[in-house]
Amino acid sequence: MGQRNLLPRRSLLLYLLLQATRGFSSGGASSLPLVLNTWAFQKATETAWNTLHSGGSELDAVEKGCGQCEIEQCDGSVGYGGSPDEHGETTLDAMIMDGNTMKVGAVADLRRIKNAIGVARKVIEHTRHTLLVGESASFFAESMGFPSEDLTTQKSLSIYLKWLNQSCQPNFWKNVIPDASKSCGPYKQSAVFVKEEQNVSERRIDVHNHDTIGMIVIGQAGSIAAGTSTNGANHKIQGRVGDSPIAGAGAYADSTAGAAAATGDGDVMMRFLPSYQAVEYMRTGMDPTMACKKVISRIQKYVPYFFGAVICANTSGSYGAACNKLPGFTQFHFMACNPSLRQPSEEIVDCI
Ligand SMILES: *[C@@H]1O[C@H](CO)[C@@H](O)[C@H](O)[C@H]1NC(C)=O
Ligand SMILES: *[C@@H]1O[C@H](CO)[C@@H](O)[C@H](O)[C@H]1NC(C)=O
Ligand SMILES: *[C@@H]1O[C@H](CO)[C@@H](O)[C@H](O)[C@H]1NC(C)=O
Repeated sequence: MGQRNLLPRRSLLLYLLLQATRGFSSGGASSLPLVLNTWAFQKATETAWNTLHSGGSELDAVEKGCGQCEIEQCDGSVGYGGSPDEHGETTLDAMIMDGNTMKVGAVADLRRIKNAIGVARKVIEHTRHTLLVGESASFFAESMGFPSEDLTTQKSLSIYLKWLNQSCQPNFWKNVIPDASKSCGPYKQSAVFVKEEQNVSERRIDVHNHDTIGMIVIGQAGSIAAGTSTNGANHKIQGRVGDSPIAGAGAYADSTAGAAAATGDGDVMMRFLPSYQAVEYMRTGMDPTMACKKVISRIQKYVPYFFGAVICANTSGSYGAACNKLPGFTQFHFMACNPSLRQPSEEIVDCI
């Protein structure tokens, strides 16, 4: 009898030992620490993961992870040299949130500074403010030691020149003269308002021109941080700020409930505070994938053709994502890394 029991007992012991070395993981879907980020920005995931493992905090990991995308100019949608505005200039939006203290640092319409999320971090550490914008944010950045550089590159210049050459199409104006669907500005307001159609051909921001990085990091002890970085929308009107630097819109983190981050058409998404909403759903115990889906479907009710996706993670490290299905955007790719995955892994979710 004793002999017979020995083998299974030994393998049970071995199994427990293996699980222990894996950080008591209970499967790919939930083990800590966790790094989760939008799109297939693998180096960002890797950088955040390595930052945690070399003793960095969750905030350090988010800052370095998103910062990696600013250096790499991920998909041309993060960092310098992408998404020139109507005057050809690249401006940056970023935020970082500490889910333990609920402190947020953010910059919007930041000019001539490459490391936007680095500046956002300084807003937390060296001011009592939450959000700094425009030229003044750039002066703040310079006072914190960030170099002032031209964010224009050959690539952003050629995007801009091509757009000028095609009569400034597409653009974000409406109800103006001259007719913005045919001509460049300067524009004046028109007395006649045209009825709007919220359909595919009306979209100005889609999968080809807007891939913000949003990142969630949960440490071994359950501290959560989140952040974003983007260069906004191609050909945006000067002064435009999207969802990324807005707490609760671009990202949200609460170490007692979870975190979420969004990517897509910020002009639409920021009206719904999708990241805040997803975290509040998870606070009630809702599964992360379901929480992501619920916020996407709420926006769908008002704007069926919006371009957007959300990633969600709860306090135990379970995670998920959801996206709004459009022609040409039926799946959303995101990155995850935790002790069970062992390395940054690309995950794919079907849009709803
Ligand atoms: C501008 O557009 C025209 C066609 O509309 C094209 O022939 C020309 O090469 C373009 N110029 C530049 C600089 O892109
Ligand atoms: C979208 O709106 C345009 C006019 O703005 C119209 O011509 C087109 O048929 C509409 N497409 C769909 C799919 O509704
Ligand atoms: C996180 O989500 C998973 C999967 O739905 C669930 O099993 C777990 O209980 C959740 N954790 C918390 C703290 O709600």
